[in-house]
Amino acid sequence: MYSMDNDIDHILVSEDALKAKVNELGAQISRDYAGKDLLLVSILKGSVVFMADLMRAVQIPCAIDFMVVSSYGGANTSSTGLVKIIKDLDADLTGRDVLIVEDILDTGITLSKLVPVLKMRNPGSVKICTILSKPSRRMADIEPDYCGFEVPDEFVVGYGLDYDEKYRNLPYVGVLKPEVYSGE
Ligand code: PRP
Ligand code: MN
Ligand code: MG
Repeated sequence: MYSMDNDIDHILVSEDALKAKVNELGAQISRDYAGKDLLLVSILKGSVVFMADLMRAVQIPCAIDFMVVSSYGGANTSSTGLVKIIKDLDADLTGRDVLIVEDILDTGITLSKLVPVLKMRNPGSVKICTILSKPSRRMADIEPDYCGFEVPDEFVVGYGLDYDEKYRNLPYVGVLKPEVYSGE
């Protein structure tokens, strides 16, 4: 039987390692946000798997909301107007402590444009939690407040990350075999 595993060259972050890290992040967030009005904001679609796991690792009451954005334009475009909001939040952010949940901070362009948009809505705070980060790819001046794993600049899929909308449902983070995408 064909399995997605056949398309993976090697595993970068195992299911067990993800689970342990998510629990660690959840405990840390629970301490840091105790007594606050925590709102977890998941940026679809990549963050859906991490969001589902992280929210259950957070041990304090929190609300959740979802957003779909698409970023276009280069890193040197200073305007915050260049993040296109496809689906906006339902929640009113006034005075609330917003924690953006992402699967990966890559160039950082998406969040460097989204964070100022959210800050204009008068939240108490806006921070970023990402399970993966590719620091070598950074183009915008932005770093996560909470980060699971730093990964090299390889073609990573799984745990929400896609190639051509597929492989999001792999339970681990792996590197795609070159022959899978070399037809491009
Ligand atoms: C990916 C990823 C992050 C973003 C990071 O999303 O899930 O949201 O890119 O890129 P950046 O740091 O270079 O801006 P994508 O736009 O592929 O949409 P998806 O989440 O639906 O896969
Ligand atoms: Mn995404
Ligand atoms: Mg994607």
